[in-house]
Amino acid sequence: MQRYNLCFLGFGNVGRALARLFGTKAAELAQLYGIDCRITGVATRRLGWLWNAEGFKLETLIAGNMDQANIQQARDLGEWLEKAQPAAVLETTSLNVETGQPAINYLRASLQAGAHAITANKGAVVYGYEELTDLARRVGKRFLFESTVLDSAPVFSLFRECLPAVRLRGFDGVFNSTTNVILEAMETGRTFAEGVKAAQELGVTETDPSHDVEGWDSTVKVCALATVLMKTSVRPSDVRREGIRALDAQTLRQARAEGRPFKLVSRAKVAADGSVSASVRPEQLSATDPLSCVRGTSLAVHFELDMMPGLTIMSHRPNLQSTAYGLLADFINAIRGS
Ligand SMILES: NC(=O)c1ccc[n+]([C@@H]2O[C@H](COP(=O)([O-])OP(=O)(O)OC[C@H]3O[C@@H](n4cnc5c(N)ncnc54)[C@H](OP(=O)(O)O)[C@@H]3O)[C@@H](O)[C@H]2O)c1
Repeated sequence: MQRYNLCFLGFGNVGRALARLFGTKAAELAQLYGIDCRITGVATRRLGWLWNAEGFKLETLIAGNMDQANIQQARDLGEWLEKAQPAAVLETTSLNVETGQPAINYLRASLQAGAHAITANKGAVVYGYEELTDLARRVGKRFLFESTVLDSAPVFSLFRECLPAVRLRGFDGVFNSTTNVILEAMETGRTFAEGVKAAQELGVTETDPSHDVEGWDSTVKVCALATVLMKTSVRPSDVRREGIRALDAQTLRQARAEGRPFKLVSRAKVAADGSVSASVRPEQLSATDPLSCVRGTSLAVHFELDMMPGLTIMSHRPNLQSTAYGLLADFINAIRGS
């Protein structure tokens, strides 16, 4: 049995779901992979840099009780990493659409301390992908981020492991659960605010829900996909972005009745000169468009490849556990070296 120390940086909806998942999968991880994990570090803005060399008690940690024996407070990130000795840092702090910070600094320090750096934070991919991937290679660790775009549905690992020598010409997708939930609520007579509340109750909104509503979350996802899969740096300011606020309930109900519902659609296309144009905006989709059947929290992406005219991946009603699974899968792949 190989023992691994884990550090959680960010302990909100996703962080707690991931801690729970490590608990429910513990026996399987031990049996299938000979892995025994314990959480030796938890850090957030409010909690500070907590560590426990013996490992936190999982149940009380998930319940938000930090009143456990042997918990100590480190001065800063450096001391926290030194004391908690993580094999992997699982980073789930809030999205910063403008710089990707401080997540990039956290992930850089984690790699420099000899840990795999695994994140659900798409800002870190958009603004830090090249630097963190290079650094990970140099120190013999992994920088992985499967949860960032389609929760746990394999997108980055699919291209990395299964689609060598393929060129991505373009993609379109529905990347944001919150706007889907809001639009559907309004189609059935509920208000915009009730739609936001429903999405918050599902735990799928960004820390600041205006990031969803105004299209920032989708925009950053477009940038993450383009940066990694099209190998072209696309920044949020390069994406034509329009949120869903201007859509009224009457328009939405009529569109749904006609079988041509509105969705917040993300698109990117590689031009002949290699440049990438991208947009995020509400679009009315035809009934035959595969994206028109994306309902509730479901997410989908359709890829146009030089070797395949179309490849669609849909994640049906993912939840917080699905997002958490993406991080768990990254961790297993990191320690297996795949
Ligand atoms: N929720 C989803 O369905 C989903 C799906 C895919 C990806 N993601 C991504 O996963 C990440 C976390 O999402 P979430 O829903 O778990 O958010 P959340 O519930 O708001 O939790 C965010 C956590 O990050 C901590 N944090 C924020 N800024 C920090 C900082 N500067 N330093 C240290 N800790 C900081 C917060 O601590 P305090 O409370 O102490 O400030 C909190 O523990 C985001 O990047 C999001 O884009 C979320």
